[in-house]
Amino acid sequence: MSEKAVLTFRDKKIELPVLVGTDGEVAIDITKLRDQTGMITFDPGLGNTGACSSSITYIDGDKGILRYRGIPIEQFTNHPNFVEVAWLLIFGRLPKRDELKAFSEQLTENELLHEGLKHQFQHLPVDAPPMAILSATLSNLACYHQGFLALEDTEALTAAAARLISKVRTIAAFSYRRSRGWPIIYPDPKMRYCANFLHMMFSIPFQQYIVTPEVEDALNLIFILHADHEQNCSTSTVRTVGSAKANLFASCAAGVSALWGPLHGGANVEVIQMLERIHAGGLSPESCIEAAKDKANPFRLSGFGHRVYKNYDPRAKILHECCDRVFSSLNRQDPLLDIARKLEELALQDSYFIDRKLYPNVDFYSGILLRAMGLPTNMFTVCFAIGRLPGWIAQWKEQHDDPSTRITRPRQVYTGNDAIDYVPMEQR
Ligand code: CMC
Repeated sequence: MSEKAVLTFRDKKIELPVLVGTDGEVAIDITKLRDQTGMITFDPGLGNTGACSSSITYIDGDKGILRYRGIPIEQFTNHPNFVEVAWLLIFGRLPKRDELKAFSEQLTENELLHEGLKHQFQHLPVDAPPMAILSATLSNLACYHQGFLALEDTEALTAAAARLISKVRTIAAFSYRRSRGWPIIYPDPKMRYCANFLHMMFSIPFQQYIVTPEVEDALNLIFILHADHEQNCSTSTVRTVGSAKANLFASCAAGVSALWGPLHGGANVEVIQMLERIHAGGLSPESCIEAAKDKANPFRLSGFGHRVYKNYDPRAKILHECCDRVFSSLNRQDPLLDIARKLEELALQDSYFIDRKLYPNVDFYSGILLRAMGLPTNMFTVCFAIGRLPGWIAQWKEQHDDPSTRITRPRQVYTGNDAIDYVPMEQR
């Protein structure tokens, strides 16, 4: 007989089914709790709530383990390219050579934007935040690709995914060009995914940007490391929107909006701003650590701490090593990297951070790398979004393919007024 959990409340005992995940993680199934008892569970921030079962990404936050479809993240540092990882996440296994070739060709075919969509950039303020542009333009893809609003089969899903994964780079680069007042550079069908993005960002008419292998590899690694992270804030948003049967474009656009927040993907911007402030002399690493510990001060050490990792984020470890590699191969130094290392050293010796198990997360070193590649700060979270898009698509697909999916609709504990009468304006 399968195991049950027993909940005792007042004079009642309720048996609840138990689910066990691949690695032995246990979840008490409360889906029938309200029907049986009239009670709900209370979990603001959903830190203890499994909102779905998923076979895409596995995290053991205590041990600092991250796996995509079972493959440890460390194994992605040398081998695959981002497109291969995207396919793996979406379709559940590593692609065969011809499958990867076909998908790459679909990306190339779809790298341009409809001229109508392109003109929209000209009507935006020059200083429009690229994350706002990205969210709006992904949403607007629905206007130009209406054949992909209902995805009935794998072929249609693949075609929609290819459009999103390919066009997101073009949209991102066009938004950057707009912010600089520079002419748009079209994608080059001969280039690989990351090199093509760098080309659209940095080439100028009649002068092609030379993509160095170190920079291309580092960007490929950044995209791979961001590609999925199970039920984080933006992915939960994508799933929530998708649970209402909203289309893939609308769902991913909502994911971008969630990612923009400084507690989520926006943290990579906050980290660099913090390091720059320290470098400019406005703050010392020691005072920064003290400010982060001070409960009267809303300041947090950006790039530190994680809802799930209570150990070193494996992505941060890989990116830290990548920083060392890239800076030495480019024969460059960055004082911000030294400051980041100093902050990490101070934090990891401090009982405040030790007791709360606060370690560097993925955002702590990614900005330093992106900055070394010449990307401006307001494009950092956009790069996170480009990386995360395959994960959002994979999660949306998994939910879409699951016939047991129900619309996401949490309950609440109401604490407002009891029933009172409406008071006409003249009597208030
Ligand atoms: N600096 C100082 N104190 C912190 C920090 C930090 N960065 N992070 C958590 N704490 C403290 C927090 O004040 C609390 O202390 P106490 O128990 O005394 O009240 C304790 O640690 C637990 O924090 P929490 O806010 O309950 O943790 P959470 O799981 O709700 O939040 C987090 C996770 C990532 C939002 C948070 O650690 C944070 O704000 N970090 C800084 C922003 C950041 O780097 N975000 C990127 C996250 S990783 C990539 C991504 O998701 O995009």
